[in-house]
Amino acid sequence: MINKKLKIGFFGFGCVGQGLYDILTKTAFDAEIIKICVKNKTKERSIPAHHFTFDKNDILQNQEINLVVEMIDDAVEAYHIVKYALQNGKNVVTANKKMLAEHLEELVDIQKKYGTSLLYEASACGSIPIIRNLEEYYDNELLKSVAGIFNGSSNYILSKIFQEKSTYQKALKEAQDLGFAESNPILDVGGFDAKFKLCIITAHAYGLFVNPDEVFNFGIERLNEHDIRLTTEKNAKIKMIAFVGKKSEKEVVSFVMPHFIFKKHELYYVENEYNGVIAEAAFADKQVFVGKGAGGHPTGAAVLSDISAIRYDYQYEYKKISKNKNLHYTRDVMIETYIRYQNLDDLEGLHLQNISVKHESKDFKYLIAEVSLENLYHSRSQLVEKDIFLVSLGIKK
Ligand SMILES: NC(=O)c1ccc[n+]([C@@H]2O[C@H](COP(=O)([O-])OP(=O)(O)OC[C@H]3O[C@@H](n4cnc5c(N)ncnc54)[C@H](OP(=O)(O)O)[C@@H]3O)[C@@H](O)[C@H]2O)c1
Repeated sequence: MINKKLKIGFFGFGCVGQGLYDILTKTAFDAEIIKICVKNKTKERSIPAHHFTFDKNDILQNQEINLVVEMIDDAVEAYHIVKYALQNGKNVVTANKKMLAEHLEELVDIQKKYGTSLLYEASACGSIPIIRNLEEYYDNELLKSVAGIFNGSSNYILSKIFQEKSTYQKALKEAQDLGFAESNPILDVGGFDAKFKLCIITAHAYGLFVNPDEVFNFGIERLNEHDIRLTTEKNAKIKMIAFVGKKSEKEVVSFVMPHFIFKKHELYYVENEYNGVIAEAAFADKQVFVGKGAGGHPTGAAVLSDISAIRYDYQYEYKKISKNKNLHYTRDVMIETYIRYQNLDDLEGLHLQNISVKHESKDFKYLIAEVSLENLYHSRSQLVEKDIFLVSLGIKK
């Protein structure tokens, strides 16, 4: 039942904030935007100046405002805003995955303690309604894994490279110009953004809070022309894939890495800023969700869906947290991996097993071997430093 008139305070009027504003005005949604808090006093705005404030307290301490919609690109400040709002009786909708991944457990406790609601569908995979599905639909299912393309901007870059033979730099610039990329592009191309989303999804898939620092992520920024040529010759593409799944009844594993994706794979044709999520469950089998993962309107639409849910007093119940108390996180799996390197000595810390392919020419050296996720995790900075590129071929069963 709709029980209240929403009086909203916006934080942020960038790509997502403007996208949402546009949707709210075009759809004549029954809510009033009382104030919009932004940072830069000299920036030109597309709507009159009286809508804006530069003081967060104009929203946080305004008793009339009952919903804060947080859409800023500063995770630290977002955390303070969201925490304060929840502790002071305001419901919150946020799109900030970094902030959520780093503070979700605490924010869940705060919601319970203060009886307020925090919704964040837009924080994971843009317009794809994955969080509410994991929360509601897969509640009683035996969920084997949730995996997919979680970052629209790196998928856009990879699409341009593999479909249009674009260069990495040109494709990145285009992604930034179109508003798909985070202000700091390493968050996208380094797999950090996908990892933050993965941690949020892990909480709703399995009721497990995993610190993002514990999760291995490896990006596409060192992809070179040899990797591209080899992948194309094999009729494959490279996609950045985030994976979380059950290793056993009691163990959950997750990571983000480039993957070889072949034509028969469900994600082969998921291109540009689109995201694709595959949920695999014991009885439902595979279900594939595809939708725009970035951009003002698609992300704004996900925020709107949460705003709408707040009108119905919707709250995530986090039922799986109490149900799955015995679950724990592990990196104890072997991944079959393509490894492009300069010197074999640089791979020593990986303790490679079962090397199946080895190629060494003057300017292109690679091998395919099994490597444990634990070793990848501990070697991450060394891999980045030594200009090594990795592509997964999947977890060894
Ligand atoms: N872009 C996407 O496709 C997308 C998709 C999913 C989720 N998200 C998430 O949505 C959030 C916003 O992303 P965006 O792309 O809209 O960012 P953006 O275009 O860079 O806009 C950021 C906005 O935040 C404001 N801001 C920054 N620090 C602030 C502070 N301390 N107080 C008040 N306002 C502040 C900026 O103010 P000024 O206007 O004054 O500079 C700007 O309006 C991020 O958490 C991002 O991860 C984005």
